[in-house]
Amino acid sequence: MKNIAVLGSTGSIGTSTLDICEQYPERYRVASLAAGKNLAATLQQCLRWRPAFVSMAEEETADLLKRGLRESGADGIEVGFGAEGSVRAATLAEVDFVVCAVVGVAGLEATYAAVASGKDVGLANKEAMVAAGDLILAKARETGAAILPIDSEHNAIHQCMRGGTQAEVKQIWLTASGGPFRNTPLAEFAKITPQQALKHPTWVMGQRITIDSATMLNKGLEIIEACRLFDLPADKVRVTVHPQSTIHSLVEYVDGSILAQLSVTDMRLPILYAMAYPERVPSNLTFDLTTLSHLDFQQPDFERFPCLRLSYEAAKAGGTHCIALNAADEVAVEAFLAGKLSFNGIAQTIERVLESTALRQPESIAEVLEADGAARDLAHSVTAGALAVV
Ligand SMILES: NC(=O)c1ccc[n+]([C@@H]2O[C@H](COP(=O)([O-])OP(=O)(O)OC[C@H]3O[C@@H](n4cnc5c(N)ncnc54)[C@H](OP(=O)(O)O)[C@@H]3O)[C@@H](O)[C@H]2O)c1
Repeated sequence: MKNIAVLGSTGSIGTSTLDICEQYPERYRVASLAAGKNLAATLQQCLRWRPAFVSMAEEETADLLKRGLRESGADGIEVGFGAEGSVRAATLAEVDFVVCAVVGVAGLEATYAAVASGKDVGLANKEAMVAAGDLILAKARETGAAILPIDSEHNAIHQCMRGGTQAEVKQIWLTASGGPFRNTPLAEFAKITPQQALKHPTWVMGQRITIDSATMLNKGLEIIEACRLFDLPADKVRVTVHPQSTIHSLVEYVDGSILAQLSVTDMRLPILYAMAYPERVPSNLTFDLTTLSHLDFQQPDFERFPCLRLSYEAAKAGGTHCIALNAADEVAVEAFLAGKLSFNGIAQTIERVLESTALRQPESIAEVLEADGAARDLAHSVTAGALAVV
């Protein structure tokens, strides 16, 4: 029996993780939860799973949760809040495996704390790897914590890497659906609305990652995540647009063999793989090969998706440029969703922030968070003058 901490339990990945726990009660027990603002869903989850500890993002919501638990007669669940609460959820003594599925850099401290305390981690929170991958991986080497990628592309690469050694890898290919605007003429990009951008063709996900998929910044974050997780330079991490989203990624070996991982577009599969690793457990997440008529692959369009170019540049620079890329995007996506920034303004904001960010290599999580804050301040000042940006 594995005791699981689910960080970001009310989100898309978090609820899929709890679904896995529901399906495999003989394998997984929910030991702790951490969520943001969704009080009703967190209360329901606490009543269902009776974790030892639960954390909310804010003290006020945590107090309301305590009251809800009391009124429901649920005793014995400790409630915390903030970054400290998420860290406690991740590091409880009884936790064996931590699913890091908080969105954004808000998940960084708890991810680092989980690894620092030697817990094995299922990593969905790619922003943590982008902002502080070097520090997290160095800590994992020290404590022996395993980091199993949940992001479907990296999960696929992890699976394909079992077919050869790291030294035998020529390059890897991350597949991209191309998002909803793959075929939209560039001239129409300036008028794209949040409603249009929130309609992903193949995946149902949280809002930020859905917008990031539309700008292809999500693929950019994944390029950086892949460089770090698989210890590869940026020029060995390639992107291919694969609209069917059936192949989740590929590894090309030096002898010319290319291994691909195919499966349903359902995040429960990579979550299950990470939670069960190194075992493979039977599931109903099957894919009917006979329904597959063709597989398409195209070159990504760097002109229409400048976030890809910016991401490769940040991947090569590393340090504060990766941190700024992610932070500026978080701020810009929020502004876009609030109707205060155009779709093109997202990439323009990121570019301006990167131009103004001095390149440094942070040596601690505190320094990462400081650089993240500085980039956010810069991004807010750029988006505040958004009319000048569009
Ligand atoms: N969804 C996917 O298919 C997918 C695929 C690959 C990778 N990922 C990655 O997985 C992560 C989660 O994505 P998602 O799509 O599941 O996002 P989501 O649906 O927006 O969920 C985000 C979760 O984070 C919680 N949260 C937000 N701020 C928090 C804070 N300060 N403290 C604690 N919890 C906080 C939210 O809580 P409330 O809802 O309660 O506010 C929610 O539970 C992201 O890094 C994303 O890039 C997602």
